[in-house]
Amino acid sequence: MKKVRFGLIGLGNIGTRHFGYFPELENAELTAICDVDKTKLTELKIPENFDHPITATDFDKSIAKFTDYREMLDSGKVDAIIIAVPHYFHPEMAEEAFRRGIHVICEKPIAITAREAREMTAAHADSEVVFAAMFQKRTEPVYIKIKEMLESGELGELRRVSWNITDWFRTQSYYDSGGWRGNWTGEGGGVLMNQCPHNLDLFQWFFGLPKRLQALVYLGKWHDITVEDDVLVLMELENGATASFITTTGDTPGTNRLEIAGENGKLVLEAGKLTFFKTEEPVQKILDHSEKAFYSKRPRVIEVPVETKAHGHKFITQNVINAVLGKEKLMSPGPDGVKSVQLANAILLSGLKGRAVEVPVCEGEFDQLLEELRTDERQNAPDKAFDWEAYLRSFDV
Ligand SMILES: NC(=O)c1ccc[n+]([C@@H]2O[C@H](COP(=O)([O-])OP(=O)(O)OC[C@H]3O[C@@H](n4cnc5c(N)ncnc54)[C@H](O)[C@@H]3O)[C@@H](O)[C@H]2O)c1
Repeated sequence: MKKVRFGLIGLGNIGTRHFGYFPELENAELTAICDVDKTKLTELKIPENFDHPITATDFDKSIAKFTDYREMLDSGKVDAIIIAVPHYFHPEMAEEAFRRGIHVICEKPIAITAREAREMTAAHADSEVVFAAMFQKRTEPVYIKIKEMLESGELGELRRVSWNITDWFRTQSYYDSGGWRGNWTGEGGGVLMNQCPHNLDLFQWFFGLPKRLQALVYLGKWHDITVEDDVLVLMELENGATASFITTTGDTPGTNRLEIAGENGKLVLEAGKLTFFKTEEPVQKILDHSEKAFYSKRPRVIEVPVETKAHGHKFITQNVINAVLGKEKLMSPGPDGVKSVQLANAILLSGLKGRAVEVPVCEGEFDQLLEELRTDERQNAPDKAFDWEAYLRSFDV
């Protein structure tokens, strides 16, 4: 195979962006597009701040068009797909592709529940294809640098982590625009399911899954919505280090501050700048042996240089192409996507049940909670509820 032939499912917000960078990829060709909404297949709706030089006429080329993704999978026209539809459909579409020996890039989150995510990866394990999750933050130089510093031991054994990630501000009009987002029945969650999967993925990529956690989860604290928009989590990591994670869609100006305290000092990411406050000696050694009760020696302040290189969705897709052609290792393997879903489910379960939760989360308990939340939404907030069957029927599918 010289060129990987791609089918793109979903031409909404993010699918259009995937469409836009295809001409810039090497060894790949977009041979098919699919959307239940026929109008999306006839005219490219170019989003705001679109950074690719394509025009509405680019749809007129010889790209095959489908409204039913199974027909696209069976057409013989695609070796790989990008799943860029709402999360509700991710597991089903990925599994259908695996069964047909078609490679998959799945948008985040790979699924709504840990059970679905696990079943999806089990289906992948039975196939020979490449499966990747669209966690493009993993291509950002600053996050790659943090990962390197953690893995090289430069920071030393982990003592504490604190991530304040509140720059996901959304107004009421975002939620009022309706549809599948921001409800239990359509999206299956709020900030944890829509905005935060990238941060939850990076968290587990850096530090692994916690052993257990306890969360405060507020439903519709700042917005007139049924799902969570304010979350505070305390975690215990595998080595006993503790971590806190705070997120919301209700703060502006928001913050993205990640502080990692290790045996050799403290690494801080804020406003895109990475700073290492390196102690003269390992922290525990100072603590155990310093004769000064109030040790105050200043750490060495090191501005960590971070490579300036392009990053984003396109680089995950190019990496997948290279992996299919046997040239590169995957940067964001699909099965890793289970972990951020695990985390999101565990946080919701803990916050809404008001108790500590072990990770991995008990799938049955979370499934039951989600079912209760969905039933409650349908009964008590029908104006917020979303009906997937009616949605598909509206397109005659
Ligand atoms: N990686 C990222 O940075 C990023 C950014 C935005 C969205 N996303 C993810 O991408 C997914 C889609 O989000 P979006 O904002 O583009 O949504 P959207 O609603 O704007 O677009 C979804 C598109 O999928 C189509 N669609 C829905 N069901 C379908 C089906 N069964 N078969 C074929 N087409 C179908 C819709 O008609 C629509 O055109 C979500 O899972 C979201 O979390 C990821």
